[in-house]
Amino acid sequence: MAMPVVNTEYLKEVDKARRDLRALISARNCAPIMLRLAWHDAGTYCAKTKTGGPNGSIRNEEECAHAANSGLKKAVDWCEEVKAKHPKITYADLYQLAGVVAVEVTGGPTIDFVPGRKDSNVCPKEGRLPDAKQGAPHLRDIFYRMGLSDKDIVALSGAHTLGRAHPDRSGFDGPWTQEPLKFDNSYFVELLKGESEELLKLPTDKTLVEDPAFRPFVELYAKDEDAFFRDYAASHKKLSELGFTPSGAKSCCPDSTVLAQSAVGIAVAAAVVICSYIYEIRKRAK
Ligand code: HEM
Repeated sequence: MAMPVVNTEYLKEVDKARRDLRALISARNCAPIMLRLAWHDAGTYCAKTKTGGPNGSIRNEEECAHAANSGLKKAVDWCEEVKAKHPKITYADLYQLAGVVAVEVTGGPTIDFVPGRKDSNVCPKEGRLPDAKQGAPHLRDIFYRMGLSDKDIVALSGAHTLGRAHPDRSGFDGPWTQEPLKFDNSYFVELLKGESEELLKLPTDKTLVEDPAFRPFVELYAKDEDAFFRDYAASHKKLSELGFTPSGAKSCCPDSTVLAQSAVGIAVAAAVVICSYIYEIRKRAK
C-alpha cells in the first residue's frame, strides 16, 4: 500500500483525529485497551526481516484473531469510528496516535508523534508478541528481535500501570495498580512490594525484579517518576516508529511546517542580500 502524503492537509486531519480520539477515549474510559492495540500492532516487528510493526495490519481478521490479540476487536472498532471521520489517515497512524493519546489523557508523558506510516495487509505469523507465562530470556528474544533494549523492556512494561487482565481474554485477572486509569509509576512501586492478594503480577512482570539487569530500572522508576516518564516517552516513540522512516522534516503540528517554511524564506532572502552586497563592493573596487 502507498505511503500517505504528509502535507499540511494531512497534518490538519491528524490534529482533528487527535481531538476526536481524546474525546472518545475519555468518554468510554478505554485508554488501556487503546494503548494495548497500539502496542500489539507495533510489537510484531522483526528488525532482521523488516516485517510486521506499526502498519495497521492488526485490523485484518486473521491477525486480530491471534490468541495474543484477544479482546482487541473492540478497540479496532472504536478506531473505525474515528477513521470514518478522517478517512485520509492511515490505520497505522491512527492506531499509534490512539496509543499516544491514551497515555496523555490518563496523565502520562507527552509522546512525540510523527505521522506518515504506511498501511499493510500482510499479517505476521502468530507468536511474535510476548507470552506472559515466560521469563527474562523470552522477553529478551521478543524485544531484541524488534531492536529494543533491556531499558525499553522495563520502561514499556510500565504501561501496565493502566488497565487490567481479563480471564476471558488472557486467562489472567485483575489490575496491576490501585488506579488503573491513571498513568503513573505505581506499577513499579507495586512490583517492589512483592506478591499481593488484589493486584496482578504476570510472570513477565515478576521477572523484571528478579533479573539483575532489569531490576535497577525498576528501582529507579519506582523512586523517580520523572525518570520513568522520560524513558517511557522515548521507548514508546521507538516502539511506535519501528520500521518507519519519517519522510523529510514532517511534524504533527501544522504550525511548525509554517515555521520551517518561514525559516527557508528568511535564509533565501538573507542570501540575496549578501550576494548583492558582495556584488556592490566588487563593483566599487573595480
Ligand atoms: C513485556 C511483555 C508484555 C506482556 C507479556 C504483556 C501481557 C499482557 C497481558 C496478559 C494483558 C492482559 C490482557 C487481558 O486479559 O485483557 C496485558 C494487558 C495490557 N497490556 Fe501488556 N504485556 C506486555 C507488554 C506491554 C507493553 C509494552 C504495553 C504498552 C506499551 C502493554 C500495555 C498493556 C495494557 C495497557 C494492558 C491493559 C489492557 C486492558 O485493560 O484492556 N503491555 N498485557
